[in-house]
Amino acid sequence: MTEIPQLVQSFSRNNEDLREWTERVFTDLLSDSEFRWLFCNTLSYMEHIGSYKIMATQQGDVIDYPTLKHLNEETGHAVLFKRHAERFKGSGLDYAESLLIAPAYARAYFSRLEVSMVRYFGRDSNYRTIYLYMSLIVEFRAVWAYEILAGCIEKAGLDFSLTKLLAEEQGHLNSMVRRLEEDGQFSREQVEYFWERERWLYVRLLKAIEKSRSAENFNYVGKQETVSEAYSAA
Ligand SMILES: [Fe+2]
Ligand SMILES: [Fe+2]
Repeated sequence: MTEIPQLVQSFSRNNEDLREWTERVFTDLLSDSEFRWLFCNTLSYMEHIGSYKIMATQQGDVIDYPTLKHLNEETGHAVLFKRHAERFKGSGLDYAESLLIAPAYARAYFSRLEVSMVRYFGRDSNYRTIYLYMSLIVEFRAVWAYEILAGCIEKAGLDFSLTKLLAEEQGHLNSMVRRLEEDGQFSREQVEYFWERERWLYVRLLKAIEKSRSAENFNYVGKQETVSEAYSAA
């Protein structure tokens, strides 16, 4: 049986050089009343993309109890961040591009990772395996980044708990490893291959968010980078 804590430690070690930068960007976003709600709305959007992807690829007769529970919890995370985004903003918010930070990069984070998996496993591959790997790789980042975010929220003295969300993300990570093992599909080599890909996409996303934060590059009413810009930024 795969030792999940050891996997999480390896992921942490591989990303140690990104920790301080991530903490700095999160702290900076939370410190600005305008960016605080934009950031929460963007996290909500990313959770929504995650939940939508589960629905789009696992719908119908293939959907089982753990998948439904996963879908329900990811939707709940989108709701949680949306609730706080609206609380910080003081009004209702949708996912219009102007109400998000670097949305094209957020979308590309998921779609490029998914494309790399479809390429790796082949066009005729099992959608369940891709769903399980997609979720697993994203969960490593989610657990890592939300632990950092929870620390930043606490330091900023904001009334916003990530305890339940973090427990659920950790639960998803465990569930994906176990389900891949049950299917005979878990491979440490494959995980490491996708970690590398994901890390590159995360760095692109964080850079884009950081760039948006700098005053000369970001005007939340007007600034919208396009998907093609995000794709050509590689
Ligand atoms: Fe989530
Ligand atoms: Fe999750």
